[in-house]
Amino acid sequence: MFHGLITVAYIVAALLFILSLAGLSKQESAKKGNIFGIVGMIIALLATLVSAGVIKGSATEYAGYFLETENLRIFGYILVAMVVGGLIGVRLALKVEMTGMPELVACLHSFVGLAAVLVGYNSFFKTSLEAAVHGGSVTLELTEVFLGVFIGAVTFTGSIIAFGKLRGIISSSALSLPGKHWWNLLAIVASVVLMGFFLSAQGASDSLVFLIVMTVIAFVLGLHMVSSIGGADMPVVISMLNSYSGWATAAAGFMLSNDLLIVTGALVGSSGAILSYIMCKAMNRSFISVIAGGFGNEGAAVSTEEEGEYREMNPEEVAEALKQSESVVIVPGYGMAVAQAQYPVADITRRLKEKGVNVRFAIHPVAGRLPGHMNVLLAEAKVPYDIVLEMDEINEDFPGTDTVLVIGANDTVNPSAQDDPSSPIAGMPVLEVWKANTVVIFKRSMNAGYAGVGNPLFYKENSYMCFGDAKATVDKILLAMQ
Ligand code: TAP
Repeated sequence: MFHGLITVAYIVAALLFILSLAGLSKQESAKKGNIFGIVGMIIALLATLVSAGVIKGSATEYAGYFLETENLRIFGYILVAMVVGGLIGVRLALKVEMTGMPELVACLHSFVGLAAVLVGYNSFFKTSLEAAVHGGSVTLELTEVFLGVFIGAVTFTGSIIAFGKLRGIISSSALSLPGKHWWNLLAIVASVVLMGFFLSAQGASDSLVFLIVMTVIAFVLGLHMVSSIGGADMPVVISMLNSYSGWATAAAGFMLSNDLLIVTGALVGSSGAILSYIMCKAMNRSFISVIAGGFGNEGAAVSTEEEGEYREMNPEEVAEALKQSESVVIVPGYGMAVAQAQYPVADITRRLKEKGVNVRFAIHPVAGRLPGHMNVLLAEAKVPYDIVLEMDEINEDFPGTDTVLVIGANDTVNPSAQDDPSSPIAGMPVLEVWKANTVVIFKRSMNAGYAGVGNPLFYKENSYMCFGDAKATVDKILLAMQ
């Protein structure tokens, strides 16, 4: 009876997670999606806490067993761990800025990877002990352990490098060791061979040695693989690690015989894989070549030197240009997030709309530092959803646009992606802002964006630089528009 209730709770939690994902796919329903996820997670935690894997005795049959001293002690330990972890989590989540969100996500992925490694070792000891006492074949269980530890270890170190690159502690350019693809291949082949030895070893201590050697190799593979992926490919890396963390969770679910972990891991793993595919499509890249770490590698070809004369506009002149415009497109990028300029940008939008100007936003799929970054910021500032358009929906409208305001975007509006086959971002679809009548670029300097590539847009005849912090600049424009 009690066991049945736990199964029902797991099914309800899994359904809520699916509803959560569905909700998160649209801006209008994202809040509802989040609530589904939170409720699902609370149900999952409570059900797991009282499940057979945690409780001693047959509490799954009889609720009274929870009150036995041994079980109360176990609850106590878990509760302390949950409160400490929860407090750290809440503090971090409250403190983190929107711009620091990708780092936080990378950091959390590393925890999932580490947890999968620890669960794997724990399952290995448990399985070996049970096999020694009861005998019988445990090949399937040991295969789960090996794969779980491998995926977890790659996710752990890979996520740490991704965290370092996003935070700027580690250079975002690609590490290029001689014969790097061969090193990756060698690590994978060595792990497969070790798996053979691990499964056929006679004693648990021999198996343990093979498991430890593979873990070290997988740690190094994760470090090397993500270090070799350069600059502009980081969006794919984040979603790829997200997917890995899901598969690591599913592997842990198999080891712990926990159906909910398997379902949740598979949901995260496959949604991360779909996101990686979407990111690759948005950047016109093949998944394999990203993993192989070619793109952004051509560090030497990256140019941030000035490529000619550029013109400037001050905020008052931008306000004047806006007053003369019938159609305006705003292209936000990472700089808008850094400056927190979304609120004055939303005010300008309202003001222009009141004057009858056709104002819209153009969102590049990898603008900012995390999927949907710009949509979240604009929603936060209450910009109406119907004027926030995806790249494909608006790219053809630039030729008929009077003024484009590029607010802290750089790589996503770089024409060299189309014009220069030797550019590290060649082939990446970009917003064709240069086709508009006038383009104003808001940034603080002539520096390159995340990919470290020079931008010929700044030197086009219809382009004007408006230097300064994006928020301060937009505030001045607002003032001048009064
Ligand atoms: P970026 O190319 O990164 O350029 C942002 C620009 O904002 C910089 O050139 C910077 O110039 C300017 N900026 C920074 N702070 C500013 C401030 N306070 N006020 C005004 N300007 C400021 O941005 P993007 O066009 O959004 O492109 C995103 C890039 O990040 C792509 O290369 C993408 O591949 C990568 N990426 C994306 C993701 C996801 S999932 N979206 C994840 C990781 C990496 P100044 O320094 O001169 O001000």
